[in-house]
Amino acid sequence: MEKFVINGGLPLKGEIWVSGAKNSAVAILPAALLLDVPCIIENVPDISDVKICLKVLQGLGAEIRPVGKNGDTYWISCKNINSHYVPYEEAKKMRASYYFLGALLGRCHNACAAMPGGCPLGARPIDQHLKAFEILGAKPIITGRNSDVVELHANQLRGDVISMDVVSVGATMNAILASVKADGVTIIENAAKEPHIVDLANFLNYMGAHIKGAGTDTIKIQGVKKLCGNAGEGSTVDYCYSIVPDQIEAGTFMIAAAVTHGNVFIKGVIPKHLEAITAKLRDAGVSVTEIEDEDAVHVFVKENAEFKPTNIKTEPYPGFPTDMQPQMAVFLTLVNGQSTITENVWEDRFRYVNELAKMGAKIDITQNGAIVQGSAVLKGADVQACDLRAGAAMIIAGLAADGQTSISDIRHIERGYADIAGKLRGIGADIAKISTN
Ligand code: UD1
Repeated sequence: MEKFVINGGLPLKGEIWVSGAKNSAVAILPAALLLDVPCIIENVPDISDVKICLKVLQGLGAEIRPVGKNGDTYWISCKNINSHYVPYEEAKKMRASYYFLGALLGRCHNACAAMPGGCPLGARPIDQHLKAFEILGAKPIITGRNSDVVELHANQLRGDVISMDVVSVGATMNAILASVKADGVTIIENAAKEPHIVDLANFLNYMGAHIKGAGTDTIKIQGVKKLCGNAGEGSTVDYCYSIVPDQIEAGTFMIAAAVTHGNVFIKGVIPKHLEAITAKLRDAGVSVTEIEDEDAVHVFVKENAEFKPTNIKTEPYPGFPTDMQPQMAVFLTLVNGQSTITENVWEDRFRYVNELAKMGAKIDITQNGAIVQGSAVLKGADVQACDLRAGAAMIIAGLAADGQTSISDIRHIERGYADIAGKLRGIGADIAKISTN
């Protein structure tokens, strides 16, 4: 077992680089199953969810080779896929294992995976995924000893109109994966618009798909027979695609810079993806400058600056991301005055509140949100990372707190943040990963 130990109170200063987006990588890697030629994927984050994806791909028969010295690039060939069964244990380890359902269905017209695991954020249904698969012509069967395995079979996949009942990132991505090689035209209505949806569509289009409208609420997909890039099947061209920067990792660093009254350039980002976070930090009195031509944002707070309370409402993109809600809550505990949080996406996203209370935070949970009584002081304590983003919030709290904070269960954090301790040390944080064995 390992934990993070943080000695807080140091202002963060300097440059920090953002890795490729977790939520893109966990869809684009399974999407490689649909390709008829090998490809090279760059800017793949070094996180445990990606390691699971690569292991699953290899288990299905993919050939994968690391490329270069950065550890973030892989050559992948899915020529010899020989199974459509995702191993039960691997599927259970991450939410995004559902993308193997869409990708395998699109490739083999058959797929089988356990219902996904991932962060415990309340009910996480996949009814919209199954609805999309059914509309395209697949028959889902729920099997397994615990009724937690989904089997899909289709004689043929045919494009049709898929109107989502809720805006779902995963269901939108899965509908794209399953329809990109279907016969005819698929239209996804009420689609999610997150940057990772655009990224998946860009990747597939680069490889020869015809997807229009990704990033809007209506996506139109003209099915194609092959995905083999412009040079065609049998070519020796290396198709190389780079995953977009991680919006949530960047936002986490922005808040870490703000709470420590730091002066940090967050680099390798797309500032447009950060607009909702930037706007809220600016409302609260933090100086955030977008530097488009350097793909960076600069967060700067004067030593004695005081922040203003503000209200947060989580919404699908381009609204304020639910995955930044726990981190923002830490910021709000350091603001003098009362702020409110409304959580519109996940019902159980407040497990971090008890942990923050150990550090002196005053947060009352309401029916679909929380009221934060800012008090401007946090004290180091022993806390737990209850889930991925709650864990990121604990790190931010530890960086801002007086004294030492020790964070257990960091495996949750490592699902989604590449070398977070090393990166933060690079801008002056006192944070170490300690073995507790
Ligand atoms: C993705 C992200 C996750 C983020 C979430 C919302 C990945 C791997 N994970 O999760 O980090 O917090 O988007 O931005 O990209 N819903 C249904 N039926 C469904 C699917 C979803 O009712 O079939 C509901 C959910 O309960 C939730 C809402 O729709 O209330 C949004 O969920 P969704 O966008 O699907 O989240 P994920 O794709 O699982």
